Amino acid sequence: MQDLTPARETLDPIEVASIDELRSLQLERLRWSLGHAYEHVAHYRAAFDEAGVHPGDLRELSDLSRFPFTTKQDLRANYPFGMFAVPREQVARVHASSGTTGKPTVVGYTQRDIDTWASVVARSIRASGVRPGMRVHIAYGYGLFTGGLGAHYGAERLGCTVIPVSGGMTERQIQLIVDFEPDAIMVTPSYMLSLLDEMRAQGVDPQGTSLKVGIFGAEPWTEAMRAEMEEALDMHAVDIYGLSEVIGPGVANECVETKDGLHIWEDHFYPEIIDPVTGEVLPDGAEGELVFTSLTKEAMPVVRYRTRDLTRLLPGTARTMRRMEKITGRSDDMIILRGVNLFPTQVEELILDLPALAPHFECVLSRPDRLDELTVRVELRDTGLTADERASVAARLRGQVKARIGVSVGIELVEPMGLVRSVGKIKRVRDERPA
Ligand code: DLL
Repeated sequence: MQDLTPARETLDPIEVASIDELRSLQLERLRWSLGHAYEHVAHYRAAFDEAGVHPGDLRELSDLSRFPFTTKQDLRANYPFGMFAVPREQVARVHASSGTTGKPTVVGYTQRDIDTWASVVARSIRASGVRPGMRVHIAYGYGLFTGGLGAHYGAERLGCTVIPVSGGMTERQIQLIVDFEPDAIMVTPSYMLSLLDEMRAQGVDPQGTSLKVGIFGAEPWTEAMRAEMEEALDMHAVDIYGLSEVIGPGVANECVETKDGLHIWEDHFYPEIIDPVTGEVLPDGAEGELVFTSLTKEAMPVVRYRTRDLTRLLPGTARTMRRMEKITGRSDDMIILRGVNLFPTQVEELILDLPALAPHFECVLSRPDRLDELTVRVELRDTGLTADERASVAARLRGQVKARIGVSVGIELVEPMGLVRSVGKIKRVRDERPA
């Protein structure tokens, strides 16, 4: 794989500023953001008043811990536009996250917010190894989901040639990759796997395409999956993170030269890690729930927004900003099986350790008797295995799950292409337990 490290002089100065410079910029912006939220959003005014805090109480960054959290329920309760801090006609765009139950979560942007968003996504794409003039194929969905348009504006801002394909029509995606010769692709990792299958089905050599970088996000994926994709596609696989409530993609991104976790663009999004049960702020290095406060957003500032994503904060390496470790999972995706906590990402790592198994799987929860059971349904790479070989692969995976995660699960081997393919965000857990 080619060395794609961006030249230092092409970075935004703040990416490589001193820590002191960064912290003082954050303090100044945080003061503004808390004041803006308090002055213009009834929810924040009521919540701050109830907690007995005022924006003026923020003297240093750590004072943020005195302010109340914001949750998805708060956003729902103010559906659709109640969290906006600017007059409605200054809202240049809205997006919404689907939400599996109930109302979607609506987010808004002023023209300046869209500009900020484009600049952090451009920074993310550059950190991934893409340079101005390169071609970028975007296969994140366009629409209310922030993935497509977020990636689009960022790639344009960086000066790339954008190919706005959106998700779906998998056969055509491959034709466009072959004909337009993009340098980079932005897509969910699970949909990249579907594209990989389709390349093989069409007789396109996945290692022979023009692609040099994949910028994968919107769902959790593991180091084992990175190794799988980099090998299969002969390109760099880099992680991009974000969520609609905070802005969309481009809150944090890995640097192609280090691939050691995602640098959070802390000049716009201030991170904290909290104990998800007590709400206590944890020191850098400790694992917990990621919380963000926006520092520059106008239309919809968020104060201590609880992401429900689990990770830890680490010191900066390739950039000044702190890194977050790859997300283990969302607290909502955590399976609690007979008292043991388990994430699909842990299962993914064990599956990819066994050469006979493909990276396609789902976790099915059921309650055949009175106890919950988990069945991992996973595809074989080849059809040619004997019954004995199959039994032995299943036993090995079951044994690994027991040894490494500490719980007994059922394993169901599925024929190649036997599981439904993802076109966007994949749903790894299927809950079939009676309500
Ligand atoms: O998924 C924004 C996005 C689009 C990010 C494209 C990256 C690329 P939402 O639909 O609001 O926004 O979902 C946000 O997705 O809280 C995480 O649980 C999960 N997520 C996003 N990126 C990653 C990632 C977009 N790199 C939710 N790793 C977040 C793990 C991720 N989980």
